[in-house]
Amino acid sequence: MIVDSVLINAKAYFKGQIVDCCIAVEEGKIHKLGKETQMPNADEKLDLHNLLVLPGLIDEHVHLRDEGKAYKEDFFSGTSAAAAGGFTTVLDMPNNEPVTMSVDSFRNRLQIAKRKILVNVGFYSAFPKTLSEINSLVTEGVVGFKFFMNSPIGGLDIDDDLAINEAFKIVSELKVPIAVHAEDRALISAKENKLKKVNKNTCADYLNAHTEDAELISIKRLLKIANGVDVKLHFCHITSKEGLGAIEEGKEVNNNLTCEVTPNHLFLSADDLRLYGSLLIMAPPLRGSVHTRALWQGLETGLIDTIGSDHAPHMLSEKIRSNIWDVNVGVPGLETTLPLMLTSVHKNQLSLNQVVCLLAEKPAKIFGLTDRGSLEKGKNADITIVDYKQQFKIDASKFKSKARFSPYDKWDVYGKPVKTIINGVLVFDQGNIVSKGGVGEIVRGSPLEVHSR
Ligand code: DOR
Ligand code: ZN
Ligand code: ZN
Repeated sequence: MIVDSVLINAKAYFKGQIVDCCIAVEEGKIHKLGKETQMPNADEKLDLHNLLVLPGLIDEHVHLRDEGKAYKEDFFSGTSAAAAGGFTTVLDMPNNEPVTMSVDSFRNRLQIAKRKILVNVGFYSAFPKTLSEINSLVTEGVVGFKFFMNSPIGGLDIDDDLAINEAFKIVSELKVPIAVHAEDRALISAKENKLKKVNKNTCADYLNAHTEDAELISIKRLLKIANGVDVKLHFCHITSKEGLGAIEEGKEVNNNLTCEVTPNHLFLSADDLRLYGSLLIMAPPLRGSVHTRALWQGLETGLIDTIGSDHAPHMLSEKIRSNIWDVNVGVPGLETTLPLMLTSVHKNQLSLNQVVCLLAEKPAKIFGLTDRGSLEKGKNADITIVDYKQQFKIDASKFKSKARFSPYDKWDVYGKPVKTIINGVLVFDQGNIVSKGGVGEIVRGSPLEVHSR
């Protein structure tokens, strides 16, 4: 047999170990892992010269934009950024223009994405206007639902606990996860309005409106609403010690709960925000070091399940504004997440196993991506190749994302993504995108597989 390609001289992450091996790829799948002598003949051979080979990384929290917000990011630029950052699969958030919240808007988004994507993309939907449409959205292939407790995005009334409970029950039958942005809208907007009235509009004022309580209240409310419902709740971007504590308590009685943290809330703090200003404004915001420490601890103990970048591209002009309430929230993250996390491995803060679990294995498990997330025979040939020892400076001006700024610009980091292979195709190589859009697959939720586990 002659396979499509063989990768030789790999130091591959395989079942928790780094092994010297070769990987044969056939029709987009991993055909075989083994010694060079065991490899079949191949049309192409790629010598990896002992680079570190990881399972293709999965970022379950990405805002790819496109459509009405294509000036900020589009499917091609966003998935180029993903490939350049070592991600082979991303899940796209629904707060788009139009909002992804119906079969029509989902189909349309998928249609636009298909030709442009360089990595695999799955789509969240916001809740539709009528709950009966939840079923059709899952049948169409959404990977899950995204629920924003901080602003009314989608068709579900965020102030109506009964309606939310009803929606959770319907989703629980379908076995796809619900990712939640847990910040209490009422509390934030009351504080914000008070501050606005007296012309308070600095970064400190933003922090005073978006307090830790807003996160805790929202988490507790969601846990109460979900109580007794067999729904998979995934808490996005947890930022506070108390919030994480509430999730820890929740996990003791409910094994359907998972949570995510972003690199921003690990590597930056409220002090940086005061120093660098509105560029670092995001929702939920950066917190004090007590919270940052709690998050690192949550990673070490395994309480935190995933790292999501919350890649939130905006134009620089939308970030630098004199009035804080006009600033667009969020920063890009696809091209900095892996080097930041590998730097934490270099510094012995986390093990490589933990990072692979957080960035590949767990997201695959939570979202039912059964043929991705590890290097195994028969799985998709999604492969992240890094020069683990290489130290380099982050250079935001070279980002593939349209958002060419970063809080980490000029930071010294270790571990450079050098090649990214998606479905057996080399997409990113030594700083360049080397394939056309369309290589990525549309990832559909697989609720039945999740159900049968
Ligand atoms: O910082 C954020 N940016 N938080 C969100 O909830 C939305 C996101 C965005 O879409 O820009
Ligand atoms: Zn969010
Ligand atoms: Zn987000």
